[in-house]
Amino acid sequence: MRPLSNRGEYPEMAERKRILSGMRPTGRLHLGNLHGALDNWIQLQNQYECFFFVADWHALTTDYASPGAIRDNSWEMIMDWLSAGLDPELCTPFIQSEIKEHAELYLLLAMLTPLPWLERNPTYKEQQQQLDQKDLATYGFLGYPVLMAADIIIYRANGVPVGKDQLPHVELTREIARRFNFMYNTEVFPIPDPLLTEVPVLPGTDGRKMSKSYGNCIFITEPEESIIDKISKMMTDPQRIRRNDPGNPEVSPVFAYHKLYSSPSEVADIADGCRTARIGCVECKKRLMKNVIAKLAPIRERRLQLEAKASKVREIIEAGNEKARREARVTMELVRRAVGLADNGH
Ligand code: TRP
Repeated sequence: MRPLSNRGEYPEMAERKRILSGMRPTGRLHLGNLHGALDNWIQLQNQYECFFFVADWHALTTDYASPGAIRDNSWEMIMDWLSAGLDPELCTPFIQSEIKEHAELYLLLAMLTPLPWLERNPTYKEQQQQLDQKDLATYGFLGYPVLMAADIIIYRANGVPVGKDQLPHVELTREIARRFNFMYNTEVFPIPDPLLTEVPVLPGTDGRKMSKSYGNCIFITEPEESIIDKISKMMTDPQRIRRNDPGNPEVSPVFAYHKLYSSPSEVADIADGCRTARIGCVECKKRLMKNVIAKLAPIRERRLQLEAKASKVREIIEAGNEKARREARVTMELVRRAVGLADNGH
């Protein structure tokens, strides 16, 4: 964590554009989460005024039947955010369900959101099919993008860093914000732009997409011995059977990791060594272990330090909630006025 706040020292920081993003509380984060979103957030905190939140109500849209782990998962996730380098001096981390104003705005937006906008949302049908063991024929699941719109525009955010899969939701948010502004003849909501995150390909240890449900994750706070164990069991080029067979690095998950964790010259050497059978898979993995351990050690170290100061972390979250709540309240006052619901003495 950086020792000093930037904010007070550079008054122009107050003029920075505001961005907001959220993550569902999945518990401890893995390398897919780190490279897919968190690393990007950590970069963005230096350029923008950032709000980052735990989307715990969103978790309920699919896990309403078994919500038991949401609170613990939220805690684990925030601990990992801070361990990886989200700095509460530079950004505002908070928990969605602590800001009840999101729910009020969600309700008001629901009134003016045409049903066909939600029904034709591509991720709606897709996810319903993918998660077919859960009953997602619910009002809340259909309304998910309206809640997401509320999350974003309640902070009058200018930008939303997201992965490609979330683009339809941000598009819908823009439509809803425009419709609100138009209908109530107001400019209370800026139209937020998506900031598309380029996600490097990082497969799980078995070559499939990294996912907790596949058990193929390396966690960002994984202990050293366990990094060694997981990498040593990783899949490589399945065609390279004997040590002397030449391999194809492009099909090996181990090589995908080298691209992220090793220097360009080492990546080039590994690629050549694999193609010519100069380097075997065991050596290739050993070199990767060393580089992954070097990158993750500071994260793990910080996590251990934070665990010893749980009350400090609770204070950080409370301060973030407080700051977010203040902003949300200002917006809701403007919104109520625009809709005609503000207290006018009658
Ligand atoms: N839908 C996002 C996801 O599943 C999480 C999310 C909820 C979000 N509200 C948001 C992301 C607002 C960005 C902005 O990953």
